[in-house]
Amino acid sequence: MTQPTDETRITSVLQEERVFDPPARFSEAVGGARVRSLEEYRALHRRSLDDLPGFWAEEARELEWFKPWDEVLQGDLPEPKWFVGARTNLCHNAVDRHVAAGHGDEVAIVWEGEPTPDGAPEVRRLTYAELQRETARLASALTTLGVVKGDVVTIYMGMVPELAVALLACARLGAAHSVIFGGFAAQAIADRVEDAGSKLVITCDGGWRRGQVIRLKDTVDEATRLTARIEKVVVVRRTGQEVAWDAARDVWWHDVVPQGDPDFPCAPMDAEDMLFLLYTSGSTGKPKGILHTTAGYMTFVHATCKYVFELRPDAGQLYWCTADIGWVTGHSYVLYGPLLRRVPTLMYEGAPNAPAEDRWWDIVERHRVTHLYTAPTAIRALRGWGDQHVKKHDLSSLALLGTVGEPINPEAWIWYHEVVGGGRCPIVDTWWQTETGGHMITPLPGATPTVPGSCTLPFFGVDAAIVNERGEEMPPNTGGLLAIRRPWPGMLRGIHGDRPRFLKTYFGRIPGMYFAGDGARRDARGYFWIMGRVDDVINVAGHRLGTMEIESALVSHPAVAEAAVVGMPHELKGTGIAAFVSLKRGFDAGAALRSQLVQHVAHEIGALAKPDQVRFTTSLPKTRSGKIMRRLLRDIAAGKEVTQDTTTLEDYGVLAKLREHEEE
Ligand code: WT7
Repeated sequence: MTQPTDETRITSVLQEERVFDPPARFSEAVGGARVRSLEEYRALHRRSLDDLPGFWAEEARELEWFKPWDEVLQGDLPEPKWFVGARTNLCHNAVDRHVAAGHGDEVAIVWEGEPTPDGAPEVRRLTYAELQRETARLASALTTLGVVKGDVVTIYMGMVPELAVALLACARLGAAHSVIFGGFAAQAIADRVEDAGSKLVITCDGGWRRGQVIRLKDTVDEATRLTARIEKVVVVRRTGQEVAWDAARDVWWHDVVPQGDPDFPCAPMDAEDMLFLLYTSGSTGKPKGILHTTAGYMTFVHATCKYVFELRPDAGQLYWCTADIGWVTGHSYVLYGPLLRRVPTLMYEGAPNAPAEDRWWDIVERHRVTHLYTAPTAIRALRGWGDQHVKKHDLSSLALLGTVGEPINPEAWIWYHEVVGGGRCPIVDTWWQTETGGHMITPLPGATPTVPGSCTLPFFGVDAAIVNERGEEMPPNTGGLLAIRRPWPGMLRGIHGDRPRFLKTYFGRIPGMYFAGDGARRDARGYFWIMGRVDDVINVAGHRLGTMEIESALVSHPAVAEAAVVGMPHELKGTGIAAFVSLKRGFDAGAALRSQLVQHVAHEIGALAKPDQVRFTTSLPKTRSGKIMRRLLRDIAAGKEVTQDTTTLEDYGVLAKLREHEEE
């Protein structure tokens, strides 16, 4: 646990007064907003909290159930059960249900590859009928390869259509998927495979990124040398380069999937059966497998897509969330949510600046994208590349913009609103987490006046509050801990294999409430302002990393005696990574070792965890009780006086002595 002095650390104190009312024409643009005024929102929100089971039962009835529930909600935080006794299947609701209702020929997924060989990118469109057939075949093929209901299948792929098929096929047969973002290294795969006890991995030969091939299969091969658990590897051919092959272990997707049974049925799943694991960073070195279950997650993701994005079938919408499916945003809002709503979802394989810096705007124009959902880090980068890239394209199809992952700075918000949205699109700034499954605090686009930088108000059925350690609510504009006081259907049901850690991390801090790990405040309007993580988690370019994980990676290098990692302000990434390192005797601090250490972290965790700064010090600053003085290090990292390249040996221990009284 961090020092109490850190808890209300304010990373941004925004005094933003500009208020943007929901644009009047928005409602027409999406075929009629559901909730059209703040009063209506408030009444519905109150009603949802007065009768949680009633509210969620009504939402759940919009989906199909093989067997209805006996009870909507049983028990309370920390371990509630939702839709007890019900049976359903997520793939059935996202795919088969639409085919059965006569929509088999409609497009479910629009996929665009990164390379543009003759200027024309490769585009594939998958209908619900094709998705049904392909998920059935893969589910059947996986069964032949030994996967049974309740197993965990690891997925390590690029953003190709087969990735969507892979998740849905797991849901179809009742195996949980554990998707690992393609930027993670072999050790990270091996650790997650071990923790999940997963025997089968689905991967690609490679993926495209800025015209380069990322050799995914090689990384999985390396992981198979680090863990003995992996028995089978299914490989999608995407990039076509030579790959090493182990005939006893590896099979090509194109050899096994066409053999699969196209009528393989959707398994009837208990409401609380595991749907997926998704590993995310926490405040210790070991990533935790966040566990989500079937019925509650499905109902929550469906409802948030309906109210927050106003996704509705037959309204000519084309929805694009730019997240990778390797993150929770991709699970809930690239794949499951839009498919549950029967709105076509766009998947783009590559980078926003390949082949040119207008690639996203080109995609929006060519496909007539109506909904764009992305992260502040991307918005800052796109803004930095210049308005000319945006203005070159006709973005008049856009009706709604969304942001997620970190607090958005008002300049980026205003740019998104004016330049991208032409001033006519509402922006939904959605606060949520891997653990929450879906949106928790967010504007409703037809109802909530927005203020740049605020995620505004809680979603229906969400009882969010700013409290202190005793659970007492804080007065307006006073920083505190962001907590959720009542259960919601999309919440995590545990950390895989570690119930004590689940109870301690999320419910051990504030009596009776879910603690999100964020500091926040509410303004006089009641709007929420997220101030950032109050634990040892940093949010780097919208990717969540544990400082301890990076520290462990550094310390595993033979030259390193001790390491401390903190976040630092970074213009594009929001938060950058600063590493303070003391060396073992006999090693020379210098540029060569610095770049070796950066590479070492990339090799141990993945390129996304590369420190932006490595500073050598003879000793790390510590309090009398031996705790590393992280606040001091954060101040030093944020300071402008020392630059990475001119820093040589510095004794931060001296600074520590000067500052000691401040930290204790
Ligand atoms: C952390 C969760 C939810 C999908 C992406 C990240 C930060 C998320 C916002 C937002 C300010 C935000 C929080 C949260 N965060 N959305 N709209 N405004 N901060 O999921 O990796 O589980 O990270 O991201 O700090 O705790 P995640």
